[in-house]
Amino acid sequence: MKPIQVGLLGFGTVGSGVAKVLARNAEEIGRRAGRAIEVKRVAVRNIDKARAAAPLAVTEGLAFGNDMQAVVDDPDINIVCELIGGTTLAKDLVLRAIANGKHVVTANKALLAIHGNEIFAAAQQAGVMVMFEAAVAGGIPIIKALREGLTANRIEWLAGIINGTSNFILTEMRDKGAAFADVLAEAQKLGYAEADPTFDIEGHDAAHKLTILAAIAFGIPMQFDKAYLEGISKLTREDIAYAEELGYRIKLLGIAKRRANGIELRVHPTLIPAKRIIANVDGVMNAVVVQGDAVGQTLYSGRGAGSEPTASAVVADLVDVTRLLTADPEHRVPHLAFQPDRLADLPILPIAEVETCYYLRLQAHDQPGVMADVTRILADAGISIDAMMQKEPAEGEKIVDIVILTHVAIERSVDAAIARIEALETIAGRITKLRLENLDR
Ligand code: NDP
Ligand code: HSE
Repeated sequence: MKPIQVGLLGFGTVGSGVAKVLARNAEEIGRRAGRAIEVKRVAVRNIDKARAAAPLAVTEGLAFGNDMQAVVDDPDINIVCELIGGTTLAKDLVLRAIANGKHVVTANKALLAIHGNEIFAAAQQAGVMVMFEAAVAGGIPIIKALREGLTANRIEWLAGIINGTSNFILTEMRDKGAAFADVLAEAQKLGYAEADPTFDIEGHDAAHKLTILAAIAFGIPMQFDKAYLEGISKLTREDIAYAEELGYRIKLLGIAKRRANGIELRVHPTLIPAKRIIANVDGVMNAVVVQGDAVGQTLYSGRGAGSEPTASAVVADLVDVTRLLTADPEHRVPHLAFQPDRLADLPILPIAEVETCYYLRLQAHDQPGVMADVTRILADAGISIDAMMQKEPAEGEKIVDIVILTHVAIERSVDAAIARIEALETIAGRITKLRLENLDR
């Protein structure tokens, strides 16, 4: 049978990985797909740089060029593989490919989280597939698992470490005491970070991925603009250490939770009990826990970024598209798991409505009555305390750190109580608030 022809847009970390994996495993992939998958053309900005990104054995047969549109318009190309990133040129090229009747495989989570509703509608209209396994959690087949493997379940919640760069930074800082900037530079060198690494550090990338996961889990449209996001840049060594003392690890988690009145969609540093497997997922590894009503909890873990782990997911999509090319579009698995005319109109809840446990760190004057005042304010707000720890003041210091863990409370009440506590004369500076998830049910 005639080989499937792929047009690669971009030949950086992921694009070069795709070419390497396709070349190395060509025989196995062909046996799985039912026909060979060949890269017909590659479009990049800098051809010399692209040629240097993979061994000669991989690049010598590839037709490199600068003209992205020519690839998308090439009548011989069956699948356009978008691996350039960004939301402007990538969007134009993907929509043009769809309009040309081509299937699309992309690793671009920003593009899908922001323009996914438009892109999937266009693909539905054109009867083509848009596949995006690599867009979430790198090499972990979490899209496939959620969209197909868990299709019997009503998903209650999911929570994941879905940004490799920030998990790598947190791990190196905790285990080796490394400096934030040094570890970030290492993550960039290893090809983990986004073109703009603030996307990794400030939670945007995780929120893009969470937006996609929530759409598939709950059958809702992509609503990135309603996701709450908070990154790891303000985390302090003290908080990481105090959390450890109390039996918790801090991870940047993306959490999507079904509530009676809507969906919680939030990314933030989160304390997780150290005994949970996900709390021990370190470095560039990602992990996603999914709670389904029938299956209970399932956990998916693997490399969340990097060249070949991500290429593994891209190539899986190329094989899937190849296998399904001749299937009637009506009978393909819907892009977002649910039939497009059956999406739910569930609101995304504002962060003030979130219900979870909290870690609060106060700096207090070491004098009688402080604890009584603080606990009274929490009690008045209906917030119940789970644990409390007071640190010894440093030599000659009169200010002590007090750490409080709460039971589940509504964020709005916690914020109101924090404002009242901060107004006490015996409290110095601002209170640090982190969210805590037990992930037990
Ligand atoms: P790179 O920066 O390593 O590669 C991008 C490639 O696209 C380069 O070949 C670059 O060419 C080309 N390119 C970018 N912009 C243009 C443009 N305007 N015109 C022509 N060519 C362009 O990125 P990655 O491979 O890391 O990422 C690609 C996509 O995959 C992104 O959407 C990213 O979010 C996603 N992703 C990345 C992962 C990773 O671990 N790196 C994991 C999962 C997803 P040139 O070098 O010549 O500029
Ligand atoms: N920058 C992303 C990360 C790449 O670090 O997770 C994988 O999507």
